Amino acid sequence: MSTSLIAANTLRTTEIVQIRTESPTVKTFTFIDRLCLKAKPGQFLMLWIPGIDEIPLSIMDVNNGLVAVSVKQVGDATKHLHSLEAGATVGIRGPFGNNFTESRGRVLLVGGGTGTAPLLFLAKQLSAKTERLSFVEGAKTKDELLFVRELNGVCKERNLITTTEDGTYGLQCLVTQPLATLLDKEKFDMIYTCGPEVMVKKIFELTEQRKLPIEASLERLMRCGIGLCGSCVIGKYRVCKDGPVFNAAQLREVRDELGISKIGFDGSRIPI
Ligand SMILES: Cc1cc2nc3c(=O)[nH]c(=O)nc-3n(C[C@H](O)[C@H](O)[C@H](O)COP(=O)(O)OP(=O)(O)OC[C@H]3O[C@@H](n4cnc5c(N)ncnc54)[C@H](O)[C@@H]3O)c2cc1C
Ligand code: FES
Repeated sequence: MSTSLIAANTLRTTEIVQIRTESPTVKTFTFIDRLCLKAKPGQFLMLWIPGIDEIPLSIMDVNNGLVAVSVKQVGDATKHLHSLEAGATVGIRGPFGNNFTESRGRVLLVGGGTGTAPLLFLAKQLSAKTERLSFVEGAKTKDELLFVRELNGVCKERNLITTTEDGTYGLQCLVTQPLATLLDKEKFDMIYTCGPEVMVKKIFELTEQRKLPIEASLERLMRCGIGLCGSCVIGKYRVCKDGPVFNAAQLREVRDELGISKIGFDGSRIPI
């Protein structure tokens, strides 16, 4: 194990500095962590909630000496995290995994749910460097569309397309619908995506049909975060170590599993 991975894998405790409510189910937590301050968009950390569990979370921002993660309440660990207040102690390991590459030309980012968090981090870093930055964000309903104000600031309003399944904000459709039109109309040098795997799979299919480059951040069940336990495998890859960001060639290799099945906590294969 390299010295930098040993350092990243050493558990540090820190206090939650600030908690911001983003939606009825999502909160952003900020804290100080010297190592994660060096993280790049796409990397993740393992957050330990004392006495409960340790969970993988994408780094959503590093700014003014603070690290931020945005967390959706889905089960036991995230419920406990949501119940904490500023000043509470948590444990951090990381940053882990690879990061999105920086494309300089015309880029398109497609986010769904909390998958928008690492893409906002990426968009902030790319906005001054790219020729044109466009963003498509989808959610079930208006309340669940995350970071709309921040995204408008980063990519200028005309380059942000929002969709909701119930039509309460933006276009009433799935995120993939305006995407197909956009990909046929405009030329993009890179498409970045993160979100529910079924969405990622559809976006990958759209880019494959058009022979476009893509980088997708994938989620799998994770325990160790450093490539040892095997719980995060997809095909020949370990998402925590070889990913979480995968390019088109790698996605092609795992297309039999992408959006279809994953390994559950008991080691059996379960449908996604
Ligand atoms: C690389 C990576 C980055 C992630 N980034 C974010 C993020 O930025 N924001 C966010 O809200 N969520 C993120 N997740 C998902 C987050 O880790 C899970 O929602 C969380 O672990 C659920 O824990 P729980 O105890 O609340 O729910 P549980 O009751 O354990 O499970 C609820 C659901 O969450 C999923 N899940 C549970 N444990 C894990 C785990 N260890 N790894 C992955 N999925 C799990 C399962 O599919 C399950 O159906 C990320 C996952 C990965 C792998
Ligand atoms: S989480 Fe253990 S190998 Fe990836």
